[in-house]
Amino acid sequence: MHTDATIGIIGGSGALGGAICQALLRTGTAAKTIRIANRSGKTPDFARTAGITVTTDAQALVDVSDLIVLSLPPALFSALSVTIRDQLTVSVMAGITARRIARHTGAAKIVRAMSSPVAARGLAYSPWFATDTVSKAEKAAVQRLFTACGLTDEIAEEGQIDHFTALTGPVPGFVAYLADCMIGHARDQGIAPEIAERAVRQLFKASGVVLSESPEAPGAHVRAMLAYAGTTAAGLEAMRASSLAENIARGLAAAAKKARDLG
Ligand SMILES: NC(=O)c1ccc[n+]([C@@H]2O[C@H](COP(=O)([O-])OP(=O)(O)OC[C@H]3O[C@@H](n4cnc5c(N)ncnc54)[C@H](OP(=O)(O)O)[C@@H]3O)[C@@H](O)[C@H]2O)c1
Repeated sequence: MHTDATIGIIGGSGALGGAICQALLRTGTAAKTIRIANRSGKTPDFARTAGITVTTDAQALVDVSDLIVLSLPPALFSALSVTIRDQLTVSVMAGITARRIARHTGAAKIVRAMSSPVAARGLAYSPWFATDTVSKAEKAAVQRLFTACGLTDEIAEEGQIDHFTALTGPVPGFVAYLADCMIGHARDQGIAPEIAERAVRQLFKASGVVLSESPEAPGAHVRAMLAYAGTTAAGLEAMRASSLAENIARGLAAAAKKARDLG
């Protein structure tokens, strides 16, 4: 994949496709041209500003693209009618397997990935799996594409993408649930709802920065708090003695199963 490649995003006017497109524009990531295909012909504001062409003819987009991003809802994939030949095809659709993409479009070089609309702000985590027909140079192009969106890693097993669909696809996703539980508890203690919300939002903002920037792993923070044996240790002991971890795992497994079922 050369650096003046044409990138065609099918579904580039949607939440995720649009975010990836904006990430490429924001970072100036090597692409000679970015094109978008959708059914409505609707041109999002960012595309109009950047002079990006939107077509309703997905095949026409495929025919002029070096790298194709599939970012349409899984339920609408079977209605997409395109023939992809030699181009690198990167899917961010939940659940749809590389095998199904190959069968449905004829694509031979497929990357299955997961990302998140926070890609527009460079905050996504985008793991990707490449079929063995994808060359080293093409993998480098995928790495560039998702580096524009935030952090990225190549994953060795395709099935693990379904787990990332649960873990890191939704932002704020399950973290919002934990925040909401904490706000609910604060409200139950008589704390004014707006103060509870403001406090917990700030807690999650600070925790996000600390967890992403600190050299210590999250588990090391937990061990340090337990060793300190203060108020947080008391809370952690109670949480660790409960079925909380098991229930979190159950929730994540249910989300991954849903992703597999979508495919
Ligand atoms: N949103 C998220 O938080 C998130 C997170 C992780 C992964 N994903 C994955 O990202 C994919 C897109 O999700 P989304 O939330 O971005 O959906 P969305 O906002 O509904 O956008 C879907 C896009 O696909 C286009 N589209 C639908 N059918 C099409 C077709 N046959 N041909 C061409 N374009 C078509 C739509 O435009 P028209 O209606 O004009 O056709 C729109 O641009 C999904 O597979 C989802 O699993 C989403």
